[in-house]
Amino acid sequence: MNKEVLYLPREKIREASLRFETPFFLYEERVLRQNCRRVKESFDKRFADFRPLFAVKANPNPDILRIVIEEGFGFDASSLSEAWLAKRLKASGMYTGNYTTEQEFRMAKQAGLILNLDDVSLLPAIERIGVPSMLSFRINPGQGKGGMKSLVLAGKDAKFGVPFQQAPEAYRLAQALGVKRFGMHMMTGSNVLEERYFGTIVQKLLEVVAAVRDEAGVEIEILNMGGGLGVPYRPEHKSLDLDKLVRLVHEVVVRKCQRHGLRSPAIMIEPGRFIGATAGWLVSRVVALKDGYKKYVGLDASSNDMPRPSIYDAYHHLSVLNGERKKERVSVVGRICENNDQFARDRLLPICRVGDLLAIHNCGAHAYAMGHNYNGHPRHAEVLLTLDGTFRKIRRAETLKDLFRTVSV
Ligand code: LLP
Repeated sequence: MNKEVLYLPREKIREASLRFETPFFLYEERVLRQNCRRVKESFDKRFADFRPLFAVKANPNPDILRIVIEEGFGFDASSLSEAWLAKRLKASGMYTGNYTTEQEFRMAKQAGLILNLDDVSLLPAIERIGVPSMLSFRINPGQGKGGMKSLVLAGKDAKFGVPFQQAPEAYRLAQALGVKRFGMHMMTGSNVLEERYFGTIVQKLLEVVAAVRDEAGVEIEILNMGGGLGVPYRPEHKSLDLDKLVRLVHEVVVRKCQRHGLRSPAIMIEPGRFIGATAGWLVSRVVALKDGYKKYVGLDASSNDMPRPSIYDAYHHLSVLNGERKKERVSVVGRICENNDQFARDRLLPICRVGDLLAIHNCGAHAYAMGHNYNGHPRHAEVLLTLDGTFRKIRRAETLKDLFRTVSV
């Protein structure tokens, strides 16, 4: 049983539930900082120039972002608002858009982020906004891997990145525009729990680095290996062995740089899930029970709060905070008019009563961030359990007024 999945600050969740209306997201600062340090320490040990970024899309709450900045992380920004946040919070980092508009590029440039292009066809836009001294391309190395099919972000079926065969030409064109310094990036998939994969994919990217040097005469200074570090969602999953992963990547970098006579690039990484997921829970209350064709436990949270199970059929561990009770098999559901609004199907859980608290694990990344307002449900508050054990509301819940702010009623 993986303790990282099962970990729950039970007493603190009970205490928070007396102060804040459910549902709310609770994030634990201690775990968040610990995850940042795990990444930094493992890479710093082996790489002289390591520059960690946090994928803002995973959890864009400014209070969370300030913590990761304090831990020495820059930002991986991927939209206008994320670039704006980087500017506002004075974070350095990289901008990786998809089919990016000129407006986004301008904001990212103003924020001082390294622009990372998904395709050569974006070069005219770069010319229009003013050619920066440094530029990067996102390379699609022709293969990818993800915790599930929709999380595979490279390969022939993916909309992302410059096909690696086109890389030398892309860099040659950028150099002709006046770019002086270069980075190379990939993001080949998310939630990968296999250490060896990262070595394999970095090896592939270094072959592209060598081809770009040989065919375009361009030297790559920064190698961004993307995010994708997986976390355990099921108690039987193992956690990623970060030291092993970094050792494998380091071996590959040393070997490949020697073989091709390359100078060792600075290493960047941009995890979101690995930093945030295990530091957050969605805390909800049981509002109704139904004994129908199946047994249902209805919550005051719904899939609009945390859509991963409804979108990906993703498993999230659930804990009922009600002391010891006998167990029964139930489906745990929300209040949205869609049958995929189910946080768990046929799960063995302690028998629930109306009013019980229920915590959904691994909700510190790709959770609130993916929420929405379907069925007119407002989105809920976010609470930070700080290092000194006190609570701070870092986002209030939406009100009815918020929901109708952009229309006339
Ligand atoms: N960098 C880029 C360019 C990305 O597209 C992503 C995620 C990341 C970094 C961070 O990936 P991570 O370290 O979190 O795996 N909503 C999905 C995950 C989608 C990932 C998309 N890109 C989920 O809930 O599982």
